[in-house]
Amino acid sequence: MPGAIYAEGLVKTFGAVRALDGVDLDVPEGTVLGLLGPNGAGKTTAVRVLTTLLRPDSGSAVVAGIDVLKHPNEVRRSIGLSGQFAAVDEYLTGRENLQMVGQLYQMSARDAKTRAVELLERFNLSDAADRPAKTYSGGMRRRLDLAAALVVSPPVMFMDEPTTGLDPRNRQQLWSIIQELVAGGTTLLLTTQYLEEADQLAHDICVIDHGKVIARGTSDQLKARTGGERVEVVVHERDQVATATGVLSGFGKGELSVDDHTRRITVPVTGGAKLLAEVIRELDARGIEIDDIGLRRPTLDDVFISLTGHAAESRAEENAQPEEAGK
Ligand SMILES: Nc1ncnc2c1ncn2[C@@H]1O[C@H](COP(=O)(O)OP(=O)(O)OP(=O)(O)O)[C@@H](O)[C@H]1O
Ligand SMILES: [Mg+2]
Repeated sequence: MPGAIYAEGLVKTFGAVRALDGVDLDVPEGTVLGLLGPNGAGKTTAVRVLTTLLRPDSGSAVVAGIDVLKHPNEVRRSIGLSGQFAAVDEYLTGRENLQMVGQLYQMSARDAKTRAVELLERFNLSDAADRPAKTYSGGMRRRLDLAAALVVSPPVMFMDEPTTGLDPRNRQQLWSIIQELVAGGTTLLLTTQYLEEADQLAHDICVIDHGKVIARGTSDQLKARTGGERVEVVVHERDQVATATGVLSGFGKGELSVDDHTRRITVPVTGGAKLLAEVIRELDARGIEIDDIGLRRPTLDDVFISLTGHAAESRAEENAQPEEAGK
């Protein structure tokens, strides 16, 4: 049985750009799908198609059991959407914005009022409730937009970069709100640039690039696919980063990643603690002072880099996809 969000062969072009190039999705009811991808990958386009805001050139989609192309109005009644750019009425207060949404969904004035108070509280907006939204900061607008998406509790929700621009406390709070929603049976498709967020919230992850799904699985499956451990070194002096990079590349079993700003070098290795000791000895022999060194499992960031970044070349070798090379 198809999931609460189901799509097959979605294609959407804008002139020469294939924003969606045959995307298939299947999100089981009551689960969270994390849609990841670099800027311009097609995430927002996918959300817009699935929420009936954009018609695909081809393909089909069923959301909450309803055909998106045949019955867009019914789909709209069954979903909640929080877009990448907050859509709030600037001239209404926070409270009025939420009450208005409630009334659009045919709530009684009284219920809409009560719901607005609850949500203002949950999203830390009570103090600003009676100020026009145009006086809100970016993070406050985003929270108001998210609150608006939750006025009614639709069975299927879409959130496009919900925590972009939120401070750590508000991000954490939104995560627990999302976890509660999902525990209550809501199905959620979430796009994010924060891989930690996908790691925390998503049951399944789908990585897209150039409008195509390039990997999918649980966070653990994707990490296992990326394979191996990493040695991570933080060099004390910036002008020793290059020498240290040279040393590490001698031990590495894959692409190095070097962050000059934080003086952090990461390299995939095999050999565990014994190898780590060798690395330390070698760095010491070269007189390179280190602030931090350790062995760690791949993170979702490593997965992402290896899928969409430099390591695209090695993927191209493996999968014989020369068109991906040199991007
Ligand atoms: N209305 C439009 N007209 C023309 N091109 C568009 C339009 N909407 C999206 N695109 C193009 O389609 C591609 C996918 O865009 P999309 O907004 O879906 O990316 P995204 O993955 O959401 O990126 P971001 O992480 O920056 O939000 C991009 O190349 C973008 O320029
Ligand atoms: Mg986007």
